[in-house]
Amino acid sequence: MPAETILYLSEPDVTRALESIDVVEAVAAALAAHARRETVLPEEAHLRWENAGQTLRSLSMPGLVDGCAGVKIINANPGLPGLGLPRASGLTVLFDIETAQPTCILEASRISSLRTAAVTAIAADVLGTHPMNRLALIGAGALARAHLELLPPRLPALREIRLYDLEPQRANALAEDAADNRITVCESAEQAIEDADLVVPVTTTTSGYIHHGWLKPGSLLVNISLDDPLPEVFLRADKLFVDDCTLVAADGHRILGRMLRTGQIGRPNHPGDSKRLIDGELGEILTGGRDGRTHPDEIILVNPFGLAIEDLALARQVHQQAVELELGVHLRR
Ligand SMILES: NC(=O)c1ccc[n+]([C@@H]2O[C@H](COP(=O)([O-])OP(=O)(O)OC[C@H]3O[C@@H](n4cnc5c(N)ncnc54)[C@H](O)[C@@H]3O)[C@@H](O)[C@H]2O)c1
Repeated sequence: MPAETILYLSEPDVTRALESIDVVEAVAAALAAHARRETVLPEEAHLRWENAGQTLRSLSMPGLVDGCAGVKIINANPGLPGLGLPRASGLTVLFDIETAQPTCILEASRISSLRTAAVTAIAADVLGTHPMNRLALIGAGALARAHLELLPPRLPALREIRLYDLEPQRANALAEDAADNRITVCESAEQAIEDADLVVPVTTTTSGYIHHGWLKPGSLLVNISLDDPLPEVFLRADKLFVDDCTLVAADGHRILGRMLRTGQIGRPNHPGDSKRLIDGELGEILTGGRDGRTHPDEIILVNPFGLAIEDLALARQVHQQAVELELGVHLRR
């Protein structure tokens, strides 16, 4: 039966509903479903425009996973953190699988940052060397905060968290808020990265600065902000994994997409003349379709583009939980 109302879930509603959801498990299930070709994941639409000297953008990301269809719209304005506001904001809309009618509208950025940190946690589980003693976070914004929330409780051997931001006051403020005595604020990205077992850039840079020589043998670099490693890291890492080859290749704004287009790097099933190939997708490791790490000294680079199915898998559970807890506001169609 078509519903007469649409449920709206604000950020506090989403946060409350997420309390009883295993975010990492939900995202891992979505990645595994993707590897089994049980998902629909069209290309994203990118809208960019200029305002007061800043480039603003809106991404529309549709998808279908586990009987849940919908779209995530996530916008970014690099000027907002300077005003004390989050850079990213957005909405996810869920559709009824039978009627195609929108059923639920959710604030998107909380789910987005947590699902992204969950991808790092999954990569650490299946591609890291354990025990993991040192974590390096480059950038101290919303994504760094989500990583600090999700990762340390999952890494029992963690002794040190090195944090670096171009703006030292942001790193200091995050360290103070996190109140974890394992956090050291560093003076350079190199200082944060040397000796780290897990390296996670969460910056807004568009030009690379991470050298291959900074990464210790056995380390795992989860390239969340996508443009931080120099091309040499993509070419020299012992293994290179992505979340979805097609989406990575479709985006010519990011370094790996450009290297795929120029043939410096090839896709697993379309190698062309490239000497360096992507070794596979993260979901394929979860389903046992590909090998992950095969030697403790391998330096592994994971380039997770970020998939709508990860947001939708979580949004679906948040919706269910919100109905149970009677959260949100019903809007008339
Ligand atoms: N791959 C994915 O799935 C995914 C998902 C969500 C966000 N992201 C990306 O994560 C990044 C971080 O997002 P956010 O919301 O935390 O941004 P934010 O603006 O809240 O924080 C970014 C921080 O990085 C710092 N920074 C910028 N350049 C730097 C550099 N070269 N070295 C050190 N610090 C630097 C800034 O000072 C800022 O504090 C963005 O690039 C975003 O696009 C990726």
